Amino acid sequence: MCGIVGYTGSDTAKDILITGLKRLEYRGYDSAGVALERTDSDGATQLDIVRRVGKVVGLESELANMDDASTCGIGHTRWATHGRPSQANAHPHASCDGRIAVVHNGIIENFAELRDELEQRGHTFRSQTDTEVFAHLIEEAYAQEHDLMAAVREACTHVVGAYGLAAVCADEPGVIAVARKDNPIVIGRGERGSYVASDVIALIDATRDVVVLEDGQFARLTPEGIEYTDAAGKTIQPDITHIDWDIDMAEKGGYPDFMLKEICEQPRVVRDTLVGRLSPYGELDIDELGLTFEELNLIDRVYVIACGTSYHAGLIAKNLIESWARIPCEVEAASEFRYRNPIITPSTLVVAVSQSGETADTLAAIRDARIKGAKVFGITNVVGSPVARESDGVIYTKANKEIAVASTKSFIGQIVSLTLLALLLGQVKGKLTTGQVRMLFHELGDTAAQIQHILDTQGPAIHEAALACKDAPSALFVGRGMGAAISYEGALKLKEVSYLHAEAYAAGEMKHGPIALIDPGFPVIAVTTKSPTYDKTVSNLKECEARGAKIIAIATEGDEDIKQIADYVIYIPLVRDAFSAITASVPLQLLAREVAVMRGCDVDQPRNLAKSVTVE
Ligand code: M6R
Repeated sequence: MCGIVGYTGSDTAKDILITGLKRLEYRGYDSAGVALERTDSDGATQLDIVRRVGKVVGLESELANMDDASTCGIGHTRWATHGRPSQANAHPHASCDGRIAVVHNGIIENFAELRDELEQRGHTFRSQTDTEVFAHLIEEAYAQEHDLMAAVREACTHVVGAYGLAAVCADEPGVIAVARKDNPIVIGRGERGSYVASDVIALIDATRDVVVLEDGQFARLTPEGIEYTDAAGKTIQPDITHIDWDIDMAEKGGYPDFMLKEICEQPRVVRDTLVGRLSPYGELDIDELGLTFEELNLIDRVYVIACGTSYHAGLIAKNLIESWARIPCEVEAASEFRYRNPIITPSTLVVAVSQSGETADTLAAIRDARIKGAKVFGITNVVGSPVARESDGVIYTKANKEIAVASTKSFIGQIVSLTLLALLLGQVKGKLTTGQVRMLFHELGDTAAQIQHILDTQGPAIHEAALACKDAPSALFVGRGMGAAISYEGALKLKEVSYLHAEAYAAGEMKHGPIALIDPGFPVIAVTTKSPTYDKTVSNLKECEARGAKIIAIATEGDEDIKQIADYVIYIPLVRDAFSAITASVPLQLLAREVAVMRGCDVDQPRNLAKSVTVE
């Protein structure tokens, strides 16, 4: 939930660290800091630690007056877990003598015991963080080992928990020692030095060939090169991953914010996720599934496990898997699934959906499901992420880097990928013919142009609807079937970026309680696209209208009748009900963003959130 970065080479370190930290801010943004090596007037190396509460831009101003001489340092942007956001709790944390500094992403579960022991041995703590124990453990080990890498390795043997860690030591100028367990670390070698970060986005300016460090591996970075070792200190040769996207993806490209840019990229995401998936004979090609047709045919139960927006993609998949493949499908929050005792047999398929591929609950649920004997299939946006590596098979959603904390384009990529999976299961189970699969596949592809049409035409209608919502204390999202599933996502998007309270209900549930909330002017956002339950949804809306609700309808083009009850109508093209979640989600994303902008919210970095939730 934090971002770490490090550089050692021949360039000005502070500039590289600040650029990297800005790109990692999606991982946390309540405070930021750096530790930079400095040569003092006696020629000795010291560490300068600078920390600021708030976003990286504040740290950047603080560093503006510092000279450019330092060519080695580490940096951190934080999402608070242990200890409130404050300067003292911001990273880097230092050893008692200030000669060792660490940045850490993760959680140290046994930090309280370690802290007690270290205090008894005379160490003084200056923060409430779990991370600080690392600085003191390394300090103790360094006193014995006189080698930073060996000291980090030794410190890790005492720690229970998860970490991506980088450490520097004033007694070993130019060296950065790195360790990883359960939290991402990528390392790259550029022409002008060696780089480490939590995410490739922070070092892609320097290289596209990176090492994704594995659990239990260590790295020692110097200006001249990088040495990789295992837990015993033995040299290893890690695999190199080539990154095929470029830095344009990490820039706003003329858009006012990443959220809007990413919403507008969705037609491409649909197309890219489908490329090469259908053979000329109408066979779906999802080889990455890692299961033969015979094994797929045996599947008699599917669980989709995920969190947040990814969970909502699962709700959509349930409808498709059950209707096309006739296999029972349950969708569960990974945080619940992992603590239950779900019914899992060798013919159970668990589908884990995660944009980041590093969500702690989803990973834990994957591990649990595999131990219980399920086949696990991952759907993720991040190549080489833990979800990809720990699943039996994986589909990548081809959304490319998503920077706004609110998921939009990756959600569309997830729905498209899950739709492919549902089609495949339908085909294998003999419930869909090759002709039907081909037709549905092409209709799925058509949603790219339909999304573009919504983006091109519905701005003014969405703006009017946003004006109607922006001052409301609360809003309700309703729909039936696919409309209900997408309503949950619409409500989440609105809450997360605009801080407006919102809830979603299956429209038929309104009269069982939520309708009590309706008073004159209360916004009800209804997904009323043409579907088998259209008339029922309209009836429910009439009940809301009768109580004075302000109704905003997402409706199918050509539906003039809806104007009789809706105060605002946002039109989307006519699509098969199975694909309506894809198109209907676009106006809901735009509506949430527009309301947030009107309310003066930071749509890319909403308060209290981080994009990767690597803690329970
Ligand atoms: O990376 P994941 O898809 O596993 O993340 C799951 C949720 O944390 C995520 O979808 C979250 O709900 C988003 N901020 C929603 O926009």
